[in-house]
Amino acid sequence: MEPGRVVGFLWVIGMVLSLAGGGGAAAAEKGVTYDGRSLIIDGQRKLLFSGSIHYPRSTPQMWPSLIAKAKAGGVDVIETYVFWNLHEPKPGQYDFSGRNDLVKFIKEVQSQGLYLCLRIGPFIEAEWNYGGFPFWLRDIPGIVYRTDNEPFKFYMQNFTTKIVDLMKSEGLYASQGGPIILSQIENEYGNVEEAFREQGAAYVRWAGKMAVGLQTGVPWIMCKQPDAPDPVINTCNGMRCGETFTGPNSPDKPKMWTENWPSFFQVFGGEPYIRSAEDIAFHVALFVAKNGSYVNYYMYHGGTNFGRTTSSYFITGYYDQSPLDEYGLLRQPKYGHLKELHLAIKSVAEPLLQGKQTFLSLGSLQEGYVFEDATSGCVAFLVNNNAKAATVTFRNNAYQLRPKSIGILQNCATMIFETARVNVAKNIRATTRVQLFDAEDKWTTVTESVPRFSDTSFRANALLEHTNMTKDTTDYLWYTTRFDSKSACMNPVLHIESLGHVVHAFVNNVRAGSGHGSRDIKVVKMDVPIQLTSGPNYISILSAMVGLPDSGPFLEKKSFGPTKVQVDCSGTMKYDLTRSKWGYQVGLVGEKARMQDKNKVNKAKSLKWNKNGVVLKNQPLTWYKTTFGTPKGDDPVVLNLTTMGKGEVWVNGQSIGRYWVSFLTPSGHPSQALYHIPRAFLKEGGNLLVMFEEEGGDPLGISLNTVSVIGPNQQRSPSQFVR
Ligand SMILES: *[C@@H]1O[C@H](CO)[C@@H](O)[C@H](O)[C@H]1NC(C)=O
Ligand SMILES: *[C@@H]1O[C@H](CO)[C@@H](O)[C@H](O)[C@H]1NC(C)=O
Ligand SMILES: *[C@@H]1O[C@H](CO)[C@@H](O)[C@H](O)[C@H]1NC(C)=O
Ligand SMILES: *[C@@H]1O[C@H](CO)[C@@H](O)[C@H](O)[C@H]1NC(C)=O
Repeated sequence: MEPGRVVGFLWVIGMVLSLAGGGGAAAAEKGVTYDGRSLIIDGQRKLLFSGSIHYPRSTPQMWPSLIAKAKAGGVDVIETYVFWNLHEPKPGQYDFSGRNDLVKFIKEVQSQGLYLCLRIGPFIEAEWNYGGFPFWLRDIPGIVYRTDNEPFKFYMQNFTTKIVDLMKSEGLYASQGGPIILSQIENEYGNVEEAFREQGAAYVRWAGKMAVGLQTGVPWIMCKQPDAPDPVINTCNGMRCGETFTGPNSPDKPKMWTENWPSFFQVFGGEPYIRSAEDIAFHVALFVAKNGSYVNYYMYHGGTNFGRTTSSYFITGYYDQSPLDEYGLLRQPKYGHLKELHLAIKSVAEPLLQGKQTFLSLGSLQEGYVFEDATSGCVAFLVNNNAKAATVTFRNNAYQLRPKSIGILQNCATMIFETARVNVAKNIRATTRVQLFDAEDKWTTVTESVPRFSDTSFRANALLEHTNMTKDTTDYLWYTTRFDSKSACMNPVLHIESLGHVVHAFVNNVRAGSGHGSRDIKVVKMDVPIQLTSGPNYISILSAMVGLPDSGPFLEKKSFGPTKVQVDCSGTMKYDLTRSKWGYQVGLVGEKARMQDKNKVNKAKSLKWNKNGVVLKNQPLTWYKTTFGTPKGDDPVVLNLTTMGKGEVWVNGQSIGRYWVSFLTPSGHPSQALYHIPRAFLKEGGNLLVMFEEEGGDPLGISLNTVSVIGPNQQRSPSQFVR
């Protein structure tokens, strides 16, 4: 455990020497290594706080202030995934523009003097569509994801190499003087490894070797991967890594926590997960007391899942309960309490990193961790695991500890921080209504027509798998058939089973009913009474996805869409339409016409906006269009869509995400009512707002709002209160 010891990886030294032109001892100090205590950067042991901010979940205009707020909150490192399906939409065609500008994001982090942890994956999970995989991967012959499978390994290596080469060409690795101190390969593979048996273990070894072979000059990590191959470091994810992590995969590796969840993701139909500042601080302090030297908050800023980027059933806002909320506003006391914790721990970093650790029992539920060294001093962590307050005696002094709390003693004598004592007051988030969209004459609408069997050209005698038809270019796939009803079918009921996610059934052009699954109940089963006419009847089913799944083994084999369609009549009579001839239409007519782009009368013959003032309320499959002015000031802007149902919203042609306000939580509220419009999407002269509504809603009830926080630690000019 000598400080500054250079771990003997020839590849590190080789890289450093080659970059520095063989500059001897000084060169060997450059870059990142590690020992059993911590990462070693430029020859120094480091205790690092880190915060996840995902570049595509905000806008480049927001990045500088998000990073600055993270830095002011005591964060040293920004952690981000790399989003393969954004960067390689087609094999060999790359996109690093706009929100996808990874290099620009990393350079912003660098310019503010912070480090970066690059979690390449390229499987990332992340509540992101398909866990980050581009959908075209599914059509590679013989592919099986995330196992010892040659086609998969080829594309994984290809993309990983692309990213590493890009980083190197921009000089972004710490070994080159850049900010990247760590990279991650794979992601929580331990969760699925067993499904692949011995091929899983072989894949882990291959992935580690492949990554290390890319010679970045900085260490690689694998999270939740106890069998990570040397020199890759195994790290912890979870809410209580001080209690759950048994340690890295060898004693000469540091103990690191890549995902400390200060909240949790939220699904449509679910309530937000609230985790207290005290609880987060307790577990961070415990992890540090137990030798942890790197803690990342996942997320520090969650942001927004724009467009169709969420994975199945996740809401559009992401980790709104983080230290920075969805819009980048400080969430107090979480932000401030963690900031004080970081400051306190940093002030005792010397003894923490250089001292020798001793453990002592201070009571049945109380314990102490002491780090001490003749030159660097002493620090103690006094832990009260009890739900009741406790008094402990340590080195002849008595200390009061609040319930479930850790006190940090500078010089092993003065309590400089206690995790359960929050000095920062709570703030309150407030919305200010800027505009109600209640003027009918400002709206225009048009309804998608329900396609009939005769409108379709692609047909099959089966219910085809949804995503194989759409290739994820759209959420929507129409299934349509026709059948002749005998007059004897009394009280007909349409029975549909689907593997997800949403089904809207139309019989003879009229919406008969809808059904949907949820993150917990994946299968949709619905029975709706219908009316049949004698002679031909038309059944059209709109199947909709709410994002592809992001987790689990064998993602390439997952199936979606209707699997059974039947008309049940009274008695035993029924029509099983499952193997009838079905006609298919991929996507909506309005999607093809790009209704979201045009302010002018739409050119597409098939779908023309009505005159202004024609507002079709509570009408399924309806497109809505209006314009609005940009609210003054800098406060974040949101749309309150409470009176709508389910669909997608675009502002000036850019999708701000899917909305689903009709899916209520157990307490009867929409999981998400407010939808973020980043300021960067807005224009001075006026903005085009387009919505597609699946079920039916009332656009006259929606409103435009700004969001602000009222409370301490917020510098707001008085004029901002006036609106
Ligand atoms: C990645 O694959 C593309 C073809 O899709 C090829 O042109 C390129 O050379 C490959 N790159 C690497 C590093 O293998
Ligand atoms: C912390 O590290 C020291 C030195 O390696 C070791 O003796 C001790 O057991 C570790 N403590 C914990 C809680 O992991
Ligand atoms: C996808 O569609 C193609 C042709 O349309 C078919 O050959 C293939 O079997 C389908 N795959 C799945 C998984 O349904
Ligand atoms: C959103 O709009 C609904 C309907 O007008 C209203 O009841 C609700 O209070 C609004 N929510 C917020 C946060 O402004």
